Amino acid sequence: MLTRLLGGRVPDPTNGDLSATILVLVLSLFIGTVLWARSRSNSSIPIVNDYRGDLNRVKAKQEFLYNAQGLLDRGIKAYPDRPFRIITAFSDRVFLPYAWIDWIRKHPDLDHQAAVAQDFFGDYPGFEAIGAFNDPNHFVVDLVKKRMSQITQSMLDTFDTHASSFLDRSFGASASFHDVSWHDVSWGTLCFKMTASVASAVFSGPTLAQDEEWQTLITLHTTSIFNAARALRSWRAYLRPIVHWFLPDCRACRAQLAQTRHKLISYQLKEEDANSVLAWTKDNQSPDAAVVQLALAAGAIHTSSQLLQQVVLDLALASSRRPEVIWDLRKELSTVLGESNGKLVPASLAKLNFLDCCIKESQRLKPQTLNNLERVALRNVTMPDGQSIPRGTQVAVASSPMWSADIWGADAEKWNPYRYLGSNSEQRHYAFGMGRFICPGRFFVAAEIKVVLVRMIMGFHMRIKPEQLTERRQCWETWLGRVEGIWF
Ligand code: HEM
Repeated sequence: MLTRLLGGRVPDPTNGDLSATILVLVLSLFIGTVLWARSRSNSSIPIVNDYRGDLNRVKAKQEFLYNAQGLLDRGIKAYPDRPFRIITAFSDRVFLPYAWIDWIRKHPDLDHQAAVAQDFFGDYPGFEAIGAFNDPNHFVVDLVKKRMSQITQSMLDTFDTHASSFLDRSFGASASFHDVSWHDVSWGTLCFKMTASVASAVFSGPTLAQDEEWQTLITLHTTSIFNAARALRSWRAYLRPIVHWFLPDCRACRAQLAQTRHKLISYQLKEEDANSVLAWTKDNQSPDAAVVQLALAAGAIHTSSQLLQQVVLDLALASSRRPEVIWDLRKELSTVLGESNGKLVPASLAKLNFLDCCIKESQRLKPQTLNNLERVALRNVTMPDGQSIPRGTQVAVASSPMWSADIWGADAEKWNPYRYLGSNSEQRHYAFGMGRFICPGRFFVAAEIKVVLVRMIMGFHMRIKPEQLTERRQCWETWLGRVEGIWF
C-alpha cells in the first residue's frame, strides 16, 4: 500500500524516521481529502462557512468556535426558510428552519440520544455518564421520566432544607426577611454551588450533598467530559480510538469515574438517604450507581444552575426597572403559601403561575444552548422540501427564533413575564426541546428552582449593582457575561 502511494519506490529501511513521517503525511492528506470530499458531497444544502482553500476546514471550525451565533444569524438571514449547513467543531451540521419544528419533533428516524452519544463520545471509557443517555435499556432516561418527574413532598422538603441552609451560611440566618445590609456576591459561583448541593441532596442523599469531595467529583466530571470531548474532536476520527488512552482530559474522566465507584462502594446508605436516587439505584437492578450519579449530575447541575442564575439576574434587574414584577410575585407567593400553612406542597407548584412566567421568560432569552432539537438521522430522510439527507447526518434548529420579533412580536428582545398570561407559548418556546425527547427533567428543575426562588424572593432584596444598571439586558450570553456581581 505504501509502495503504491509513493509511486513504486521502496523507502530506505535505514531511514526509519523519514519514512514514518512520509507515511503519516501521505495518510493524513489522503484521509483529509476523503473527509473534505465527503463534507462537500451533500452539495444541495448550502454551507455558511465554506471558504476557498480551507481544505481541512480549519478556518471554518475556528470561526464556529469563536462566532457560532454570528454564523447562525448569517445562515438564517441568507436562507430564511431553507436548511443550511455549518461546519462546527463537532461535525458538519444541517440547521433546519424553525417552520419545520413540528416535522422534526414527530419524525421517527431523527434521534436525539444517538446524537448526544456521537457528539460526546459516549462509547469511550470514561464517558459512561454520556453513554448512559443512549443506553438501549433507557435506564437513566426512564429513571428521570418515571421516578424523578413525580414531585413528592420529600423532594420539596429536601430542596428547601438545603437551599435555606446554603443561604443562611452565605448571608446569615434569619427567621423572616433579611435586613438590607447589602452583600456584594459573585452570583455565578454561589449559584452553582447552591444548585449542586440542592440537586445532589435528592440524587445522592443529604450526607453526600454536604461532602466537599463528592461535590467536587460530580461537578468536575461534567467539565472534564466537555474538555475531553473538545480535546478528542481536535484529533482525526481514525486516531481517536488510540489517542483517548493518552489525552490528559480523557484520563481524568476515567480516574474520576473510578474514584466515584470507589467512594460509593465504601459508602453505607443512611436512614436519611432513603428517598434519594442513590438508595433506589443501589438496591435496584441499576447497571452502575456511580454512572447513574455522574449522568444525573451531567444532565442536571450545570443546566439548572445556569437557569437559576439568569432568573435571579432578571429579577434583580426588574426590582430596579419594573418593581411591579416583584410586587406581583410576592403577592402570588403569599396567597399560595397561605393556602398550605406557609409551606410549599406539590399542589402549590402549579399555582405559582406568575413565577413560572418569570422562569420561562428568562429561559426564552437565555436558553442553555444556541441550538436545540439536536438529532441524528438513523436512515436516509426526505425533508419537507423534498431534499434528502443521508443516514448519519446531524441536524438541529437554532435557538434564536425564541427572540425573533416575527414570532414573539415587537418586544421580542425584552424580558417581559406578563407576555405568557393568557397565551399559549408551547410551540414557540423550545428551550427544553420537543417531542419524544423533550427533557424529562423539566418537572424536577421547575420544582427545584421554584423552591429556591420562593426562599430568595420572600427572604431577600436583590439588586444589580448600580454601576452595572446601565447595561442593557441582551439575548443569549452577553448580559450574563457582563453582570456577575449582584447585591443581596
Ligand atoms: C434548565 C435545566 C435543563 C435544561 C435546559 C435541559 C434541556 C434539555 C434538552 C434541550 C434536552 C433534549 C430535548 C430535545 O432535543 O428534544 C434534554 C434532554 C434530557 N434531559 Fe434535560 N435539561 C435540563 C435539566 C435536566 C435535569 C434536571 C435532568 C434530570 C434530572 C435532565 C435529564 C434529561 C434527560 C434524561 C434527557 C434525555 C431525554 C431523552 O433522550 O429522551 N435534564 N434536556
